[in-house]
Amino acid sequence: MSTDNQSLRAFVEQTEKNDPANVLRIREQVSQQLEMTATVFELDRLNKSPVVIFEKVEGFGMPVVTNVAGNRQLLARCLGATVENLPTAFRERCQKYIPSEIVSKPAWDEVVFEGDELDLTKLPIPFQFTVDAAPYITAGQITARDPETGVDTTGFHRLMLKSKNRLGVSLHSRRRMYEYHRRAEARGHSLPAAIVIGTHPLHYMGSMVYAYPPNVRKYDIIGGLFGEPYRLARCGIENLEVPASAEIVIEGEILAGVHEPEGPFGEFTGYASHRSTQNVFVAKRVRMRRDAWYHSVVSGMSRDHILISCITREGEILNALKRNLPNVRAVHVPHKTCGAFLAIVSMKKIAEGEPRMAMLTALGTELYTKQVIVVDEDVDIYDMEDVMWAMATRVRAEKDVLMVPGVKSAIIDPTSDPLTFTVTKMGIDATMPLKEDFAQRLIISPEQRSRARDILAAANVI
Ligand SMILES: Cc1cc2nc3c(=O)[nH]c(=O)nc-3n(C[C@H](O)[C@H](O)[C@H](O)COP(=O)(O)O)c2cc1C
Repeated sequence: MSTDNQSLRAFVEQTEKNDPANVLRIREQVSQQLEMTATVFELDRLNKSPVVIFEKVEGFGMPVVTNVAGNRQLLARCLGATVENLPTAFRERCQKYIPSEIVSKPAWDEVVFEGDELDLTKLPIPFQFTVDAAPYITAGQITARDPETGVDTTGFHRLMLKSKNRLGVSLHSRRRMYEYHRRAEARGHSLPAAIVIGTHPLHYMGSMVYAYPPNVRKYDIIGGLFGEPYRLARCGIENLEVPASAEIVIEGEILAGVHEPEGPFGEFTGYASHRSTQNVFVAKRVRMRRDAWYHSVVSGMSRDHILISCITREGEILNALKRNLPNVRAVHVPHKTCGAFLAIVSMKKIAEGEPRMAMLTALGTELYTKQVIVVDEDVDIYDMEDVMWAMATRVRAEKDVLMVPGVKSAIIDPTSDPLTFTVTKMGIDATMPLKEDFAQRLIISPEQRSRARDILAAANVI
């Protein structure tokens, strides 16, 4: 058993022990080409989404662990929460920053490859969709420091395998890493960076937080999620700090002034993405555990790729809304709208204008969220059919639809303008007017339902 509770393998071992149905070990040999992604998508079609460990990948000596964020139960357990209160637990914990601590003996300090020995093509990096330009590292947490303030960041960025030491990288979220690289370039130098593969899902979750003060480290947010200091160790590039319990660390830099073709890549939008910031990462050294696991996120519209974005956005939007609208009850960012583009807000409206306030706040939290639907508390925001019913019966388009054109958006949103990367954001108020005599919703009471079930039981139907 792993003794380090902050590692990916500890998470898998604990899940295997406490919830064995949520871990699937594939012992049959699989190909690095397409087979792993197709297997996880096929499981999803069967309504199953466990962690999957491919123990034997043809031509490689390392297991591939994937789908670690495949369902809400897995993530709720990491936070000691229930599925129902997961966004709230996340939202509360990610605001309790806990400073990290440095350890001297990291787990990845067992094997080192540099110079001619360095060869990234020896990692079992899956080639996921036929449209992909190459195999992609999809679970690479890139860490770098702000050249101006020294505050570091960590986040996933897709990495295209180009050669033994060269990776294409797209910083299209245009958050801290993009800005740090821009600042380094403005000072005329490349950005020292480390790619970390194989981290606990709480690192994955914490790395997706976006609304926090500029002096706060993401590692302190991840510490808040763990409820204890996140244990880090210094690696060999500019003493950058990376998780001590990671599986693999690739040290290098994101080049200044160099842009090369990157992509296409099967993105979370469900489309092949040709849009990219086209940056280049050059690896200088690889360090890893002797028995390292390779972690990969299933790309495309998989749950593994999207679910954490759903939960972090639900938490972040709730945080923003609760500041001024305590009567907001919950937020749902559905998987089927790519965990990004659409948010549904449930509120107990007590004054007219509150849905608009909620829309403007939610739409302004970040660039991906471009559509917001606000509903009354009687509507089940986790049931898209109920939400569509509210839209169909409560929206008066001439009053209830708000459009905000020309807003900065996601490069990889296929609807964003190809030159300016802006979109028209939209809010829809699907709440009932407060003072008007509005139509009354039909209800079947719990007592009636209970009696109906007795009737059906007597007729041997249930
Ligand atoms: C699986 C996964 C893959 C991602 N890939 C990319 C990517 O290729 N480029 C990017 O800019 N953001 C990507 N993101 C989003 C960033 O990781 C996220 O916006 C993060 O907060 C950025 O961190 P930063 O502020 O350090 O830049 C990805 C997110 C996930 C969950």
